[in-house]
Amino acid sequence: MDEFVIDGGRRLKGSYLVNGSKNSALPILIATLLTDDECVIDNVPRLRDIRTTVRLLETLGKKVVWTGKRLRISYARPLKTHASYDIVKQMRASILVAGPLLARFGKVRVSLPGGCAIGLRPVDIHIQGLETLGAAYAAQEGDVVLSGRLRPAKVRFRFPSVGATENIMTAAAAVPGRTVIEGAAREPEIEDLAGFLRAMGAKVSGAGTSRIVVDGVSRLKGVRHRVIPDRIEAGTLMLAVAAAGGTVTFKDARPEHLAALIAAMKRAGARVAAVRGGLRVSAEGRPRPISVTTEPHPGFPTDVQAPWMAYMSQAKGDSRIRESIFERRFLHAAELARMGARVAVSGDAAFVTGVSELTGAAVMASDIRAGAGLVVAALAAKGRTVIQRVYHIDRGYERLETVLRRLGARIRRLR
Ligand code: UD1
Repeated sequence: MDEFVIDGGRRLKGSYLVNGSKNSALPILIATLLTDDECVIDNVPRLRDIRTTVRLLETLGKKVVWTGKRLRISYARPLKTHASYDIVKQMRASILVAGPLLARFGKVRVSLPGGCAIGLRPVDIHIQGLETLGAAYAAQEGDVVLSGRLRPAKVRFRFPSVGATENIMTAAAAVPGRTVIEGAAREPEIEDLAGFLRAMGAKVSGAGTSRIVVDGVSRLKGVRHRVIPDRIEAGTLMLAVAAAGGTVTFKDARPEHLAALIAAMKRAGARVAAVRGGLRVSAEGRPRPISVTTEPHPGFPTDVQAPWMAYMSQAKGDSRIRESIFERRFLHAAELARMGARVAVSGDAAFVTGVSELTGAAVMASDIRAGAGLVVAALAAKGRTVIQRVYHIDRGYERLETVLRRLGARIRRLR
């Protein structure tokens, strides 16, 4: 299994063109199930999760041609309405096929995603939303089975789940009449999906606010769409620069998608400036200790919490991180401790006592973002770090070692 070997302590410099967003591409690719027409999706990152999504679409009956950053998705045969466990277990976002398939065919069967390293991650909000649209739900042999003809309705979420918002929006696009989602997630990826559904022929307004209105239509058409830049990839690399020191320009990074992180980084002493078509980050020395709480967008994103912890490990004082989205998302704390970080975890809070220097060690990635946090720590640390289970990192970052090497880091992949 692949490992990263990182010799830390080198400043990062240069410029980097941010990839297309994984979390935006996934629901958009899955929403192509709404039509038999050809769809062309551009700026798709070459990642393991996208490969899994392509396989999912292919097993359901789509033809997918992937060249460079472009995916061309077209009709191959009548679609199946069953997504089996061997794919769903690899990627929880597979549950997003429920909405579109149910809306089109009146039935769907998706294996129930299990828990994962960062939390239980149930799908009750997805199911309740689809029930409100008129679906009947049954649990069968570990699968979620939903059936019935959907009708427009007012759906109210108890929590702004990103996935549930996407699932219901996508379903509603193919249900003639007006569906209203209240308590919706406000992430930029939701706005991107709304743009895609609009282009397909549905009317969608309010995406980016907590009330989304979808006027669905009976036939949606194929379209061409360019995925937004990945704010989490950008945010992770911005924290790498902040932690290791240096100056990097991030082309295509959107400051408006990264406002909470940028504000926290500035308070910690990093310089972050909007430049034409992107952002420039520069940093020197140890940061000031700044406490953050992860929250749904536009709050501080849980997906950069681990890299943030790595950054704060070397702060000039004590800080606190409260994780309000996932119940077990501090697995990286014990790994960072192996590198000399001082982190005490209690319930949903981590207390970080800044140290003057992290030191290289052998560590292990437990999920995508925890792995990214270890990379950030390793870049800032003195000496050599070996990170195992790099496959987690590969789910969400395209050839991270090549990107970082170009920016001046000493990192290589051992196969
Ligand atoms: C998405 C992102 C993920 C990010 C997360 C939160 C994708 C592919 N993934 O995941 O990177 O970390 O948003 O920003 O876009 N919940 C329930 N019941 C449900 C659904 C969710 O209790 O039916 C809970 C989850 O267990 C979790 C919280 O709500 O504690 C947030 O989950 P959600 O917003 O749904 O995240 P995902 O869409 O899975």
